Amino acid sequence: MDEFKFFGRRKGRKIRKAKTSLLERFLPHLQISENSVISPQLFDIPVERVCLEIGFGGGEHLAGVSLLYPHTGFIGAEVFQNGIANLLSLITGIKQNSQVPDGIKLLPERTDNIKIYSDDVRKLFNRIPDGMLDTVFLLFPDPWPKNRHANRRFVNPDNLVELARIIKRGGTLLIATDHPVYKRWTLEQMHNHPSFIWTAQKSDDWRNPPADWVETKYQQKAIREGRRPVFLEYRRL
Ligand SMILES: C[S@@+](CC[C@H](N)C(=O)[O-])C[C@H]1O[C@@H](n2cnc3c(N)ncnc32)[C@H](O)[C@@H]1O
Repeated sequence: MDEFKFFGRRKGRKIRKAKTSLLERFLPHLQISENSVISPQLFDIPVERVCLEIGFGGGEHLAGVSLLYPHTGFIGAEVFQNGIANLLSLITGIKQNSQVPDGIKLLPERTDNIKIYSDDVRKLFNRIPDGMLDTVFLLFPDPWPKNRHANRRFVNPDNLVELARIIKRGGTLLIATDHPVYKRWTLEQMHNHPSFIWTAQKSDDWRNPPADWVETKYQQKAIREGRRPVFLEYRRL
């Protein structure tokens, strides 16, 4: 039996043909397999630092930030197949109605700085060496707002122990949420954790995203629906 029970969706609407081709033919080039050794050498180009995005959804932030920082390696973890297909579409420029060429390539303006873990990130944690990561992004995690589902929330003592181990000293954990229950929960969980300190000095520091921010789909939805997201940045002590 699986050590970790996953409560989200692995598959959604039927994936169109072009995106299916991307999953079948291009994902294997970027995918972290059971045999991959997790280190900065995982990437096919030399990288100055490595970041992790947990639950990248449709990949908007991951695609954007990896373009902004071509010499940083990004590991993206996501279980939702449709989301992975969307990321592949963003980084290759192959849209769902496009003709898929024989040799699928990254868009020419990109470096080869993304690797994808297409399963529950908790299974990857124990393969990541201590202090390897510069920044971890956890953007709009499923809030599981009901009390009886609190143990499903990603920010929890077990995951924080792992995050504290794999983020380097002085590194960053960035958590964004638009849900008041998750915000309160995160502030409380993080306050109780001895390895992280909240960097906010004034309210603008958590009300506004960092300067080089790339909006995610959930963030745009929250704003459309009148919810104001918060951006909680923690430094690894
Ligand atoms: C609410 S969505 C947010 C997606 C994206 N970050 C955004 O802001 O648009 C949460 C995502 O986290 C993914 N997720 C949840 N738990 C995960 C886990 N343990 N490992 C990998 N992905 C996970 C889900 O599949 C889902 O796509």
